[in-house]
Amino acid sequence: MEIRFEKREVLKEKPTGALGFGKYETDYMFVMDYDDGKWHDARIVPYGPIEFDPASMVLHYAQETFEGMKAYKAKDGRVLLFRPEMNARRFINSNKRLSMPIIEEKDFIQAVEELVRVEKDWIPTGEGESLYIRPYMFATEKAIGVHPANSYKFIVICSPVGAYYPEGVNPVKIYVEDEYVRATVGGTGFTKCGGNYAGSLAAQVKAEELGYTQVLWLDGVHRKYVEEVGSMNVMFEVDNTIITAPTDGTVLPGVTRDSILHILRDWGYKVEEKHFAIDDLMKAGHDGSLQEAWGTGTAAVISPIGELYFKGDIVTINDFKTGELTQKIYDTLTGIQWGDLEDKYGWTYEVKVD
Ligand SMILES: Cc1ncc(COP(=O)(O)O)c(C=O)c1O
Repeated sequence: MEIRFEKREVLKEKPTGALGFGKYETDYMFVMDYDDGKWHDARIVPYGPIEFDPASMVLHYAQETFEGMKAYKAKDGRVLLFRPEMNARRFINSNKRLSMPIIEEKDFIQAVEELVRVEKDWIPTGEGESLYIRPYMFATEKAIGVHPANSYKFIVICSPVGAYYPEGVNPVKIYVEDEYVRATVGGTGFTKCGGNYAGSLAAQVKAEELGYTQVLWLDGVHRKYVEEVGSMNVMFEVDNTIITAPTDGTVLPGVTRDSILHILRDWGYKVEEKHFAIDDLMKAGHDGSLQEAWGTGTAAVISPIGELYFKGDIVTINDFKTGELTQKIYDTLTGIQWGDLEDKYGWTYEVKVD
């Protein structure tokens, strides 16, 4: 794929101090258009507003998909991506489900890689800092009437981000949603489409009103089996076995989830991908067999879960402290991602920056 480069006259000031998450955008963005059955005009251009028609179909029928990944600067100066092919493949699966055009794996990676190369000086180097990368696609055809659009934009933007938890890894309080559902088999739960998140906000608001930070979703049919958290997959250590929901259509197949399951199996842990009833989880919390629990996702990497709330019943996990296994997984995965530990799995992908 040929990518045109349009230089910016004046570069932005880089932020100083705490970066937070998603607060700053870099100097450039990657843009490509789809019309008449093909992608064209791949370009890296100055970051800025884009124009599209008020009747663009995404605004009515929500054909929009996205990805989330990071670039890391290793201590020896290498610039690393983490398993970018998994994001590329998941993006293809999301786009197929939403009847949107696909971007070939190699083109997706090339777009990300070239933008990261251009923006290499934006990759922050403080402890736990990285460059968050957000590729996304949406329907631009101007039409009213439900059908798959004929034209789309694919854009990649970047944002320097700080450690998700600047004071270190700390447990979060999770609210188990018993009214709203996020996904059902046959729906779009396995995709990363904006609509999934729009539909989840009402539960998030309920959780926050009760003092909880995140929502744990139950399955959409029985409201019984544990699925995933707002933007993370979840894992529970019960009687020395790690339990997590299977990726059979309703949960997002997380890159972090896959990596952690791999590492745990490699360490000899028994891992079960199964439908786990919320009643059994709460029972395990009360009888002490629930040892640790954590969420996995690109943004926070690993998030220990310290408390669960379900219909007024509350379970505290590991005395609301980060468990030993949770910490070990966090240290191992971040060690690989930032290039501090040997990557025996071949997961890191170096972006050559001369
Ligand atoms: C709903 C949902 N589940 C799980 C995840 C974790 O996926 P990953 O590990 O690929 O970031 C995310 C974040 O992308 C998410 O939005």
